[in-house]
Amino acid sequence: MLRNGQTLTSAPCRVPTPSLLGIETSCDETAAAVFSLEGNLLSNLVASQHEVHGRFGGVVPELASRKHVERIEEITHAALNRAGVGWSDLRAIAVTQGPGLAGALVVGVSFGKALAYALGVPCIGVHHLEGHIASAWLEYPDFVTPCIVLVVSGGHTHLYLVPQRGEYRLLGKTLDDAAGEAFDKGAKMLGLSYPGGPALDRLAQTGDPSTVRFPRPYLNKGRFNFSFSGLKTSLLYYLRDRQSRQESSLPAHVAAGYQEAIVDVLVEKSLRAVRQYGVTGLAVVGGVSANSRLRAVLQARAEKEGIRLALPRMHFCTDNAAMVAAAGWWAYQEQRWASWDLDAQPGLAIEAMEPFPSFVRRGQGR
Ligand SMILES: Nc1ncnc2c1ncn2[C@@H]1O[C@H](COP(=O)(O)OP(=O)(O)OP(=O)(O)O)[C@@H](O)[C@H]1O
Ligand SMILES: [Mg+2]
Repeated sequence: MLRNGQTLTSAPCRVPTPSLLGIETSCDETAAAVFSLEGNLLSNLVASQHEVHGRFGGVVPELASRKHVERIEEITHAALNRAGVGWSDLRAIAVTQGPGLAGALVVGVSFGKALAYALGVPCIGVHHLEGHIASAWLEYPDFVTPCIVLVVSGGHTHLYLVPQRGEYRLLGKTLDDAAGEAFDKGAKMLGLSYPGGPALDRLAQTGDPSTVRFPRPYLNKGRFNFSFSGLKTSLLYYLRDRQSRQESSLPAHVAAGYQEAIVDVLVEKSLRAVRQYGVTGLAVVGGVSANSRLRAVLQARAEKEGIRLALPRMHFCTDNAAMVAAAGWWAYQEQRWASWDLDAQPGLAIEAMEPFPSFVRRGQGR
């Protein structure tokens, strides 16, 4: 008789599924995913903390860390159960090493390392951006290379030339705010609730983007660099001006006009890179790639210009562990294990990618 009154019957015979566990805790999502070593995503669970941070209007790092501690074990169990995978099936643990919030990253890295050590399997440190990039191949396993990849998220707006999977050449990046920040700060000015990007997207869907025109920063300069802080200031001045003249412009039109300026710059620069480097594929990844207007414009332009477009489905755009597992699976195939002194690296800059083990191709040494 078992403790809860059940009798012990013979367990159904389970076929082992050699797998890899992915863990993501870089910001305000606690996420776990299981990937089979054959390359199939078996489960992908995300526990979002939006309700925790919403009343503060942004992520509170200390609260994020505490929530990760509370949830990481439970979400890992749930991901394994959903995948039908047991501890003994795990062959490696891949965990986001950085960049991100220090305390939040430490939770995932400590948990992942401890689990790997206990199971006697390797631990793999994943760069958060390589995770976002991997989401394109997660969705489109045969996506063409060389290609251009735009990573457009809460902390990054980076344009890469990717000659082959695992090799990233930075063409340009934002000189100030990331596009996600521009969405979030713009949403705040418009009085929308956190998280701002999706709220602004929803509001803009009911507005006309041509009613209020905002500047397109850096559209025709800075080559492949971006700048969004001036756009944010334009919105601030626009709203102040309207208020002082006691004119009310419909918020939906303002949101649509503001969004259109961001989308225009992102699309034009990405397509310019595609043309200049003579590639046929464009992948757009990261939280902002969930934006409905960006997706619609990209799809229309890609179709018109005969470009293959990789636009991962919504739940692969914002932070998730499937992308970490996918990037970890690439590393696993190349046996790029981390050492046991793997540590969280909150400021892991994009410029630091080259010497970072996860970004060094096999045969080039560490
Ligand atoms: N539909 C949307 N429209 C516009 N922005 C969106 C939408 N959905 C999410 N975002 C934005 O995406 C960002 C979150 O993306 P993501 O989770 O990839 O960022 P992050 O992990 O915080 O930053 P990074 O990946 O750069 O470290 C936020 O700025 C959010 O407002
Ligand atoms: Mg992210």
